[in-house]
Amino acid sequence: MTATAPLARATVAQLRASRIREVANEGMGRPDVLPFWFGEAAWPSPALVVDAAQAALAAGATRYVQNLGLPELRDALGDYVGALHGATAPEEIAVTSAGVNALMLGAQLVVEPGQRAVAVTPLWPNLVEIPRILGATVECVPLAFGPRGWTLDLDRLLDALTPDTRLLLVNSPNNPTGWAMDAHAQRAVLERCRRHGTWIIADEVYERLYFGDAGERCAPSFLDLAGRDERVIAVNSFSKTWLMTGWRLGWMVLSRSLLPDLGKLIEYNTSCAPSFVQQAGVAAVRDGDGVTRDFVAALRRSRDYLVGALAAIDGVDVHAPQGAMYVFFRLRGVTDSLALCKRLVREAGLGLAPGSAFGDEGEGFVRWCYACDVALLEEGVRRLRSVVAPPS
Ligand SMILES: Cc1ncc(COP(=O)(O)O)c(C=O)c1O
Repeated sequence: MTATAPLARATVAQLRASRIREVANEGMGRPDVLPFWFGEAAWPSPALVVDAAQAALAAGATRYVQNLGLPELRDALGDYVGALHGATAPEEIAVTSAGVNALMLGAQLVVEPGQRAVAVTPLWPNLVEIPRILGATVECVPLAFGPRGWTLDLDRLLDALTPDTRLLLVNSPNNPTGWAMDAHAQRAVLERCRRHGTWIIADEVYERLYFGDAGERCAPSFLDLAGRDERVIAVNSFSKTWLMTGWRLGWMVLSRSLLPDLGKLIEYNTSCAPSFVQQAGVAAVRDGDGVTRDFVAALRRSRDYLVGALAAIDGVDVHAPQGAMYVFFRLRGVTDSLALCKRLVREAGLGLAPGSAFGDEGEGFVRWCYACDVALLEEGVRRLRSVVAPPS
């Protein structure tokens, strides 16, 4: 009797595995490797958050809680989002098990199999693969890389937003490029989406990691322009703003008319985010502004160092990103960024992410997460030079 190995459904089998992981698998566990491949700060989560979680655990916050989140966290987030983007009620907020779960829930809410989605790329792969898991097709509208860094051809995006487009996915500030969509483009896109009844999932997890004019607290957001009862779902996360990647906590801002159905989806996906983690989240939202400000100041220093150091390497094209925590730079002559990144791990102990992981238009580029001390970046640059610009 020949047993046939059981396989996943075709849609899932056809998903592309993460190429960032593929590189990391080459070097994970090797203590000599400098890991700049994932989107994670080298610094620990803030003490105020750890303390709040410990206190919550000690008080027994270990049980199932509300599908849509603890009322005190939704209240705190309502105040927080309201201060950044205008009045937002707790009933327009749902707490999720991190940003990636919020993206999946948002797509599950609005996309049917066979429908058309549009995404602005290069892009963190999850945003493109999530609608595909649900059976949608995704058309990518690429940013262009030129003398002014990464830019959007707005007309091209508007043309892609056809009347049958169900969903637009925009991540701004963008992973991997650091590009941020300006309010003018957001207004035009929102107008087009309103006309066609197209949903927008705005991935704004890097909104606070933004290097705009001094004093600006965050990047332009669709929430600044759209009413809360529109077809806009804004996704956010505690991972980046408060250095809480492993805590798996996020939120969505959306029309209150969606909440009964969203509650059902959360019930069937995760049921709720962990209660002690949500209590730590309250501390982050209420008392963590200084944490974020210090983080952004450190990121700015690291970014400025790294951009300058990379620009000084022959054959590198690089521009200062407007936001997020990555430099996405081109190495002239490189046609296989995956092979190059594996080689950098093997030969130099340097962990970077291949541009092709973020879409075909990312080929030839490499992503470097710079959320760490400058000294670590200096060593990284030395290692990069040893492979791509060895002394002759
Ligand atoms: C663009 C973007 N969206 C969402 C996320 C999700 O982050 P998390 O699931 O940790 O909240 C990430 C993480 O890297 C990201 O880069």
